[in-house]
Amino acid sequence: MHKSVKYIMVLFFASFSLVSCKQKQGDKIKVGFSQAMTTDDWRKQMNSSIKIEASLRPEVDLKISDANNNINKQIEDIERFISNKADIIIVSPIQSKPLTAVVEKSLKAGIPVLIVDRKIDGENYTAYLGADNIEIGRIAARYIISHSKNSGKIIEITGAYGSSPAYERSMGFNQIVNENKRFKIVNTIQGDWEKESVKIPLKAVLQQNPNIEYIFAHNDRMALSAWETAKTLGLEKKIKFIGVDGLNTVNGGIELVKSGVLDGTILYPTGGNEALKLALKMYNKEPVSKNNILSTIVIDKNNAEIIENQMDKVDQQQSVIESQQGAIKVQEREYASQNNLVRLLSFFLVIILSLTIYSIYSTISISRKKKQLERINQTVIDQNNEIQEMAQIAQRSNEAKLNFFTGLSHEFKTPITLIMSYVESLIENEKIKGTALIDEVKIIHKNSNRLLRLINQLLDFRKIEEQKFTLRASNTKIYDFTNEVMTNFKGEAARRNIDFQLICKNKNLELFIDKGLMDKVYFNLLSNAFKFTPDNGKISISIFENQDNTVRISFKDSGIGIPENELSNVFNPFFRASNNNKNSSGIGLHLSKEFVLLHQGTLELKSKQGSEFVITLLKGNSHLQPSEIINKAENLNKTPNLISDNLDIETDLNQEIVTSKSEKHTLLVIEDNIDLVAFLKAKLSSEYVVYTSDGSDAVKKTMEIIPDIIICDINLVDKDGYEISRELKKDLRSSHIPIIILTAQSTKESVLKGLQSGVDQYLTKPFSLSILKQSISSLLFNREKLRYYYTNNIYRVEPESKFGNQEQSFITKMNDIITRNVENPKFSVEDLADKLGVSRVQLYRKVKAIIGINISDHINNVKLEKAAELLKSNNMNISEIAYSLGFSSPNYFSTAFKNKFGISPKEYKSST
Ligand code: FRU
Repeated sequence: MHKSVKYIMVLFFASFSLVSCKQKQGDKIKVGFSQAMTTDDWRKQMNSSIKIEASLRPEVDLKISDANNNINKQIEDIERFISNKADIIIVSPIQSKPLTAVVEKSLKAGIPVLIVDRKIDGENYTAYLGADNIEIGRIAARYIISHSKNSGKIIEITGAYGSSPAYERSMGFNQIVNENKRFKIVNTIQGDWEKESVKIPLKAVLQQNPNIEYIFAHNDRMALSAWETAKTLGLEKKIKFIGVDGLNTVNGGIELVKSGVLDGTILYPTGGNEALKLALKMYNKEPVSKNNILSTIVIDKNNAEIIENQMDKVDQQQSVIESQQGAIKVQEREYASQNNLVRLLSFFLVIILSLTIYSIYSTISISRKKKQLERINQTVIDQNNEIQEMAQIAQRSNEAKLNFFTGLSHEFKTPITLIMSYVESLIENEKIKGTALIDEVKIIHKNSNRLLRLINQLLDFRKIEEQKFTLRASNTKIYDFTNEVMTNFKGEAARRNIDFQLICKNKNLELFIDKGLMDKVYFNLLSNAFKFTPDNGKISISIFENQDNTVRISFKDSGIGIPENELSNVFNPFFRASNNNKNSSGIGLHLSKEFVLLHQGTLELKSKQGSEFVITLLKGNSHLQPSEIINKAENLNKTPNLISDNLDIETDLNQEIVTSKSEKHTLLVIEDNIDLVAFLKAKLSSEYVVYTSDGSDAVKKTMEIIPDIIICDINLVDKDGYEISRELKKDLRSSHIPIIILTAQSTKESVLKGLQSGVDQYLTKPFSLSILKQSISSLLFNREKLRYYYTNNIYRVEPESKFGNQEQSFITKMNDIITRNVENPKFSVEDLADKLGVSRVQLYRKVKAIIGINISDHINNVKLEKAAELLKSNNMNISEIAYSLGFSSPNYFSTAFKNKFGISPKEYKSST
């Protein structure tokens, strides 16, 4: 159980016990009172007076048991008091003898016994309380003797046989009567204390003895019964009746005396209150007498009134006491309920206090815990920050390493390109073709190719990691495509006697694939198959159409296979099977899977007796994004891939066109790789005047030469290729020069960056020399077309750039200046260059580059165009026009005009 819950429960029970706590029963003095019966008023009065006494003593717990005049029940009642461990027992016996034993038992149990009224046999009780019954008998006898005037004949009616008062009263009565000869007890009737026991026997006795003077009954009830019996015989006035008890009740002794029924009654006090007082003394071990006698008195018509008054007073007092008791009880109840309310309130107060304490405790401990948690949290945050910082450092370092390796890989590409390009030249070289050397050259070529593929795989891996691949899928006949790739392996298959097959039912089956990527997948799977399949083995590619709109391309070999438990790892990067002791990078399969995934396909491996890689691709193109789909033509025009780059032999390597230097275009190669520069120079010098720069003086050299075309690398020492291109394209002097970027950086971003820098063509390494050559000549051809346009549209060159380049605005601006100064004979080329912010040489070269003629000729052309215009206007003659346009003589003007328009100014003028 939770600690706090326990705490609350303890509080609850503590508070509850506070409420329910009462004076314990065990703390009270347990008084057991065995009453003989309660049928008569004497007993009722006895009970009432003992109760009143008990109620005055809160320490007393009084229990009254009524034996109903049944001696056995009385014994049981006393037994029960004993077993309930009463502190003291009061017994008012029915009979004497039967109770002796049980009283002894009580004493043995240590419980004192007080006998009241009637006695038990023997002396074995603690104390006795009651009036002296012998004396009562004597008093009655003496009363009769002193008052008798007639016969002296008496009838005695006794109490129940076996009860001590009956015996003792009779004894005392007889004693005195017998002492006087004149008196005689004519008959003794055996009564039982109650009225009915009297009537029949008394009637009989009276009928025989009608001159009876006195009847003494042992109690008032039987005396009244005797009177009533006598009355039936008409003797009630003749006979005098004496009773015992003297109760102050209706039909009680006092009333009977007062009404004249009884002549007298002997007061027999019940002693109820005295009995309790005595019992408590006994309980408190105070000294008490064994026999405690209550005083008695004769009540007759002389004192009945007085005694009645006294008794009434006592009764009144008693009723006052009773009503006070009642009031006390009511108050006690109120007190009890108020006490309970107080306890309940205390209970709630305790609970509230406890909860308050608990909540304060909780608040404190919560705030402590909160602080602790905050500290922990702060530590965690700090650690987290540290981890993040470390992660960032690690990531930066990782990034730096990766960039380093990527950069390095890019750098590898250039020398490999060179090697391959030279090797390709060698393969095609007639001097080697027929010799034994060709095989060795081919081995160099093959291994260079392999090295290149590995580097490309590394770069692809990085690219895949950075999610930079975009699928460029086109509808492809998969049979043809597969066959094409297989061609590359057929030589090896034949050499090693490997059964190399393609199984495909539908040769026209088309799938949307990115040929470049799928080529790499095929190449990888086949390279692996060939690597692990022994000579004379079997490798097959099977193409199946499944029912579910998918196509399965399986690559199966009879090689060593892959251990069962490693199958799930083969596509993890850098994985190498435990049975693979050949060199492998471990990224080929990873890349293949990623490339297939780009096609929304799957690549799986089964390995039972050899390996089987299965590519599953969806038919159609609905599973691809529109941006991932290209048409076939585009796919054909794509940047040459690895295979065509490296296996296709350049056909035009040696077909150099020898052109004279004066006709040659100038070309500036900006490249810091000396070998590549040498290679390009060697390959391009026959067609172009090749200038070179390692990049450090690229812009300066461009401005000096104003070449017709520039080939520029990206990774250069000083400024990178993008910067150089941007600068050159911004500058009016060089903005017209086409720039070809030749770089190993093949990402989309790099190409985009290049194009944004204004470059005209972007070629990636390894490059195809023929494509480079084609690019150069295409760009120069386009420049030529532009030049033609400018030359023939001097005035029609639209100010709003039609081609969107700087040249157009340059020409427009230049033409504008020339036109404004056309009639100024002093206006020179220098002035024009000045106004355009370029040098004379630069102006000359730029104009030559853009419109193909020198600047003086261009100014003359503008002047002649103006002349033609003036000739048409008819306002001036030919000489005036010649001089106004700054021609030195009208003859020179005429010659120049004829050269340009084919007719003389004169003819031109007359023709309009
Ligand atoms: C009451 C009574 C009294 C009598 C006493 C003797 O039950 O009968 O009338 O005096 O008992 O024990």
